[in-house]
Amino acid sequence: EKGGYKHFMLKEIYEQPKAIADTISGKLSIFEKKNEKILTNFDKIQIVACGTSFHAGLIGKFFIESISRIPVSVDYASEYRYRNPIIDKKTLIIAISQSGETADTLAAVRLARKKSAKVVAICNVIGSTITREADYTIYTHAGPEISVASTKAFTTQLAALFLFAVEVAKVRKTIDEETENKLLNELSEIPKKLKTFLDSENEKKLIRNIALEFYNSQDALYLGRFVNYPIALEGALKLKEISYIHAEGYPAGEMKHGPIALIDEKMPVVVIAPKDRVYEKIVSNIEEVKARKGKVIAVTNANCPEIKKLADFTIEIPTTEELLYPFLTVVPLQLFAYHIADFLGYDVDQPRNLAKSVTVE
Ligand code: F6R
Repeated sequence: EKGGYKHFMLKEIYEQPKAIADTISGKLSIFEKKNEKILTNFDKIQIVACGTSFHAGLIGKFFIESISRIPVSVDYASEYRYRNPIIDKKTLIIAISQSGETADTLAAVRLARKKSAKVVAICNVIGSTITREADYTIYTHAGPEISVASTKAFTTQLAALFLFAVEVAKVRKTIDEETENKLLNELSEIPKKLKTFLDSENEKKLIRNIALEFYNSQDALYLGRFVNYPIALEGALKLKEISYIHAEGYPAGEMKHGPIALIDEKMPVVVIAPKDRVYEKIVSNIEEVKARKGKVIAVTNANCPEIKKLADFTIEIPTTEELLYPFLTVVPLQLFAYHIADFLGYDVDQPRNLAKSVTVE
């Protein structure tokens, strides 16, 4: 059932092009006329989730605020439910959960509904508890995710959030038809681009070699900016949960406010640096790391000579519209964590102390 792959996690990483394509073509029926009210009758959005789904939520904030211009807050469900959040009839809650059974996320949904807010769930499991309690569910079509470490559920959540952002913008007329078509077109190109990356023997070898170089590290730092800042968090979470190496993700601009003190010649620093609006800024961050002799692994595009010159290793991903980079930048980080855990001989699909769905608080 692992289809020739050594672990479910690896299989699920490779299933991402198809999972994303299926989610996009799943024609989210939230966009049907009768549901239009759900899309217009709110003036703020609160996203609640845990773990990797929370990281998808952080990226969803970038999608919705930049495309639909609606204010979005993102909370850990376990914090949201105990902080007496400001919820009213004009608040839309988006609960993101792969399993649809996470106790804290479910409690946040119940709280919001009690305060008469509408709840949209983004979920991968048909008929799960959260989908039964939400007003509306957008299903991700990732297929069953067996590995405890979430991969394809995450990228399909991103696809659902991006489609949601575009649809809300369309209904509220915050984008014109040309922009809408351009965004949707770019999204539909993602599965192909991801497949090209995943099929490249060079990149495969390179990521394994980088993992071989660093699997004995004690710590790792992940840096990103803008829409790739949550990818830094997600990359660090993947490494922690399956390889038990301490890792932290930071917005790169925060480095000089503390974490830079950690950098020495042994510290691997993974920098997510595609050619986007903050490219020049992140190049300076890489210079700062190199000045302290840190080891830089950069995830960037081809034709970024500034980064090639500075970084110890560069992983090249295809180009896309800048909001969509997280789909492409997260995948090398998933593979990096996977290979490290595998080299260390750990049970990749069943990491210690973790369960696939957290149904206790
Ligand atoms: C990390 C991971 C967890 C889950 C979290 C939420 O790889 O799998 O952090 O993302 O437990 O689970 P769901 O999305 O099922 O609510």
